[in-house]
Amino acid sequence: MTSSERSLVIDNIGMLVTNDPTLGDSPLGIVKNASVVIVDDTVVFVGPAGAAADDQIDAAGAAVLPGFVDSHTHLVFAGDRAEEFTSRMAGQPYDGGGIRVTTDATRSTATTELDRLVRLRLAEAHNAGTTTIEIKSGYGLNVAEEARALQIAERHTTETTFLGAHLLPSEFEGRADDYIDLVCGEMLTAAAPHAKWIDAFCEVGAFDVDQSRAVLEAGRAAGLGLRLHGNQLGTSGGVQLAVECGCASVDHCTYLSDADIEALAGSSTVATFLPAADFSTKQPYVDARRVIDAGATVAIASNCNPGSSYTTSISFCIAIAVREMNMTIDEAIQAVTIGGAAALQRTDIGRLSPGARGHAVILDAPSHHHLAYRPGVPLIRRTIGPLGRSGTHNDD
Ligand code: NIG
Repeated sequence: MTSSERSLVIDNIGMLVTNDPTLGDSPLGIVKNASVVIVDDTVVFVGPAGAAADDQIDAAGAAVLPGFVDSHTHLVFAGDRAEEFTSRMAGQPYDGGGIRVTTDATRSTATTELDRLVRLRLAEAHNAGTTTIEIKSGYGLNVAEEARALQIAERHTTETTFLGAHLLPSEFEGRADDYIDLVCGEMLTAAAPHAKWIDAFCEVGAFDVDQSRAVLEAGRAAGLGLRLHGNQLGTSGGVQLAVECGCASVDHCTYLSDADIEALAGSSTVATFLPAADFSTKQPYVDARRVIDAGATVAIASNCNPGSSYTTSISFCIAIAVREMNMTIDEAIQAVTIGGAAALQRTDIGRLSPGARGHAVILDAPSHHHLAYRPGVPLIRRTIGPLGRSGTHNDD
């Protein structure tokens, strides 16, 4: 047995969320007084407390959850936009135009420094309970810079997304169709080897439905999976487009018509909510109840970026979802774990049952309900599992 195959038991778990209803109560599959054994990053046992293993972590009666799956971030950027945020809190609307500010800052920053910034943000996310993360490009907006952003991202995650169609760069002002041709051609060729997914910002002020469709279709032809920013600032047509194209996920979904919800419910496209963006842009919160009751699959992600949502805190997103979006605590927990996994079309994460990755969060609390009940309190005692491309169950 190599050192990476040593077994680890998380023992004396007061309340374990497995997300496997065959293992315990409710859709969360809750097991009380439990232990989980992990070998080589894989769960091999879930059962009563007291299981044996080479190494032990004593949860001392605390709650344990699957590690959070953050399926939407824009971590490769330089600079911040605190002034823009401050103006917004004083009444200025958000229109996405600040993406160009971050693009200028990112283009003029050395690769080593960008990589250092990504590592800092990943460490912050990991300390906050995230064990899987998606990272988009989108602050390069030319061939070399988009490829560079993805090369940085792929050092840290397999869930990389090419977002050349984030905003029209200033050098293409008035020539949006020419820019889309570049995105679908030379830029995609440079980006595709480093990306798993392709995305577009389908919104008034960014790209329209036809331009976004062209990007998605080009990405599909290049072998990438599809995701889309849709319905963030209005009913952009993004949700309908995402469903039509079979996107894995359509993200934001802040403005949803009845037809949008019906389309989502009849599809395999996950509706990913980004409540911290609605917080930071003063958009209304989504009524998630309508979407869940219609039968659609939902996820919640942080959308960490310097403009609309500068946070890596999934706990913060859970608290908003429960207080403002008509989600139960259990639904919010599912949305940041197995929901995020569905948005990334992954079945090996987001749950703690035999065969799944051994990614877990130990809370400083006796139940997962405390994540909404005690907002703003750092309740993540320990995150088990890497936040990166490889690693073992040892998180230090
Ligand atoms: O998902 N809306 C588009 N992209 C990001 C915001 C980017 C920015 O403002 O810098 C988002 O909210």
